[in-house]
Amino acid sequence: MNKQIASFLNSFESQLKVMSPGRINFIGEHTDYNNGFVLPAAIDKKITFSFRKSVSKTQCTILSTTYQKLFTFSIDKISIREATWENYIVGVVAEMQKIISGIGAFDCIIDSDLPLGSGVSSSAALECGIAYGLNALFKLNLSTLQMIEISQRAEHEYVGTKCGIMDQYAVMKSKEGAVLLLDCLINKHSYIEASFDPYVIVLLNTNVSHNLASSEYNTRREECEFVVNTIRKDSNNVSSLRDVTFLQLQQYKDQLSKNHYERAAYVLEENERVLAAVECLKTGNLKQFGSLMYASHRGLQYQYDVSCPELDFLVDFSETNKEILGSRMMGGGFGGCTINLIHKNAVDDFVKEASKAYKEKFGIALTSFVTVPSQGTSMYS
Ligand code: GLA
Repeated sequence: MNKQIASFLNSFESQLKVMSPGRINFIGEHTDYNNGFVLPAAIDKKITFSFRKSVSKTQCTILSTTYQKLFTFSIDKISIREATWENYIVGVVAEMQKIISGIGAFDCIIDSDLPLGSGVSSSAALECGIAYGLNALFKLNLSTLQMIEISQRAEHEYVGTKCGIMDQYAVMKSKEGAVLLLDCLINKHSYIEASFDPYVIVLLNTNVSHNLASSEYNTRREECEFVVNTIRKDSNNVSSLRDVTFLQLQQYKDQLSKNHYERAAYVLEENERVLAAVECLKTGNLKQFGSLMYASHRGLQYQYDVSCPELDFLVDFSETNKEILGSRMMGGGFGGCTINLIHKNAVDDFVKEASKAYKEKFGIALTSFVTVPSQGTSMYS
């Protein structure tokens, strides 16, 4: 440990502790920025933050114990930084300053047991933890929705990913034992008590993160907007894919490229799958719930084109196993994790077999963990 870090750690007295979890998403992928439905939940892996008001008037010091890195910035003069993880932090501060005054200089120590870059949204966990912590430390009285939107805008403006609202919303609003049905048209949610027993939620991490992820993400967003704009030329009541019916889309098939048509068809179908999945949860039909997860994956693979060979391999591998109800890629795609519903007695064997097969095929070690729907961003002592 370098001297600067050691002395910062030694002198630090925490005034406030916040934990901010990662998230999973059962179904409803790439629907959030199309004003559709999603079904996420926070997980029991998280980033923790210790905050204090800074002794300096303007200088903020942030330490990541995970990266063993420390950086400083002036609260009066925030600009985009080179390291992405730093931008999640300064981005939130800058976006907060746009709507409220009263944020003084602060110091923060950040620790994490969340796997980074694996599709469980460590980025949203970081943004939301900072927003939540500063709101409490400086008694800013921001609403949870304001903090969610600030965190999302930080990612747009400071990191350059034009993400939807799902991650930040799930991270902030989740409750233990429940999944969240979020309607991204109106940004309102309902909790659905979820019991998966005897099945458990297993994440398999491909440990790849193809670098197309961010650029392709923004391209998908533009492709969907293109379809909306094409239809809107004739029907000005259409402002997102949420307003488009299957029949309408069909009528525009000739005016759209195959890709544009497939992207939009996927989104319309995925929205229906989310609502069907919610019914399955309510009636305890986990088998059907799992089939919807597979269908979602195939849509992401063939129509939306955001999967990758590593993710497809894991989903294909799970499909041959009767103890697995459902499996799909999760998050933006091009790497990260698959989410799987596996019988609790079959998890160990399956993970062993999948790891062996994955290693043989790609030469990469698979990692995995079991998780449960958990509490969102909150204070702890
Ligand atoms: C990323 C984004 C989310 C969402 C998913 C795909 O996680 O941050 O807003 O669009 O991808 O569903």
